[in-house]
Amino acid sequence: MERVLSGMRPTGKLHLGHLEGVLKSYIEMQNTYEVYYMVADWHALTTDYENPGNVKDNTIEMYKDWLSVGISPEKATLFIQSEVKEHSELYLLLGLLTPVPWLERNPTYKEQKQEIKDRDLSTYGFLGYPVLQAADILLYNAHKVPIGEDQRPHLELTREIARRFNFLYGKFFNEPKEILTQMPKLPGIDGRKMSKSYNNAIFLSDPQNVVEEKVRQMFTDPLKIKKDDKGHPDNCVVCAFHTIYNKEILDDIIKECRQGKRGCVDCKKQLAKKLNEVLTPIREKRSEIEKNNDKIKDIIKEGNKKAAQTAKETMQIVREKMKLKLDF
Ligand code: TRP
Repeated sequence: MERVLSGMRPTGKLHLGHLEGVLKSYIEMQNTYEVYYMVADWHALTTDYENPGNVKDNTIEMYKDWLSVGISPEKATLFIQSEVKEHSELYLLLGLLTPVPWLERNPTYKEQKQEIKDRDLSTYGFLGYPVLQAADILLYNAHKVPIGEDQRPHLELTREIARRFNFLYGKFFNEPKEILTQMPKLPGIDGRKMSKSYNNAIFLSDPQNVVEEKVRQMFTDPLKIKKDDKGHPDNCVVCAFHTIYNKEILDDIIKECRQGKRGCVDCKKQLAKKLNEVLTPIREKRSEIEKNNDKIKDIIKEGNKKAAQTAKETMQIVREKMKLKLDF
């Protein structure tokens, strides 16, 4: 069976945008591949090293989000990067053969260094971010890696590093392929991209009344003021959500809105109801998980152990190929 590895940085609660994008592909892939899903806590620290305070709590939250949407610890190996020390060893070894210019010209790196101004990112660790990511992937010799568009340069680098390793020490690593997780056209409640940092997200863990309130606050067509004004659904956040969550009746919704036969208040109520239908089973699963704290600890420990097993096997071979293995 082909292997899949993916990781998410534990930066906070997951939201509907994650569910429609990356989480759905995580869930799907656990049935057809041998999957490893990792909490990339070291990666989170490459930018948050000055304030590591939330990393542990966020890691636990991430497990809860994963489990509550149906990622199964029986099918997937769910583990924490920093608990499998082999990641750091491979990171070091791959760093030896990675030319610095490869890292300096990485577009994601250049962009983030430009954009993130409130932290000092002129660190060795931040430059080496993709080397650590390459180590994550190659440690499990993954064939496929589900990622968002912004991660493409990192995967290209992973392949380049794998090729260089294979060239220098003999073929061992696969050149992993990306599986682009389709970005849902799901805006935040203010119409910008849904993101925790924009304060516009609907979280998987939001209770029913919070979802209702957030939907009430959604931006609608500014030209539709009264109930029977004709609306422009193309320019409405509520409609963007209906497009995903009320597909079956979307044509009617759009027609009624355009004809001035649908008020925004009712339209929002209908959406909130639907979103809560989607989120109720997720909430129920979450509260079940939260009732049994030991169970989640067991899942984490078990996942770490399983990941470490594979990681150890890889490192045996890597050390041998790099002439680091003692034969006594
Ligand atoms: N860099 C990824 C992100 O920010 C997270 C990540 C870390 C990752 N290691 C990985 C993703 C390995 C895929 C494979 O989203």
